Amino acid sequence: MLDVTKNAVGAKLRSKSQLVQLAVNGEWHEVVVTPRLTLVEAIRDKVGLTGTKASCESGTCGACTVLLDGRPVLACLTLAVECDGRRIETVEGLASGENLSALQEAFLDQGAVQCGFCTPGMLMSATALLRAHPRPTRAQISKALEGNLCRCTGYNAIVAAVRQAAGEAVEPVMK
Ligand code: FES
Ligand code: FES
Repeated sequence: MLDVTKNAVGAKLRSKSQLVQLAVNGEWHEVVVTPRLTLVEAIRDKVGLTGTKASCESGTCGACTVLLDGRPVLACLTLAVECDGRRIETVEGLASGENLSALQEAFLDQGAVQCGFCTPGMLMSATALLRAHPRPTRAQISKALEGNLCRCTGYNAIVAAVRQAAGEAVEPVMK
């Protein structure tokens, strides 16, 4: 049966769509968003960058972490309209052309990528940490990554990768 109420609500929401400008990885994108569109949906479905993952979509797993004006945020809990005119960094922005960032290289060296679903979010949280604290302590690494869940690695390889990217001599955890 036709749900008139739902259709009416949908039409009302669509009528409130607005144009927002997002500076994603240094490039401006103009996208039309509904009031409830999340930032992760805007990045993946409107901008077309699918490196950022949508997993729990309830603020639990950290897979959707991006940097908003330099600070890590959960893109599944952030509305796209809140980001109008703001700077967003995603995992696609970490490499320079074919050259991976030191952190990405360290993740590979340490075997910190298994299924890879947590990796974009981990990389963004760790990138923010290393900018703020170029030589982080173990406690600072743990704190920075506490909102990013990984079902595969047991975390040791990820922590080792962050330490390696910070310039520590770290034996590979996964050989
Ligand atoms: S998808 Fe955003 S926290 Fe899990
Ligand atoms: S590598 Fe699979 S969830 Fe982290």
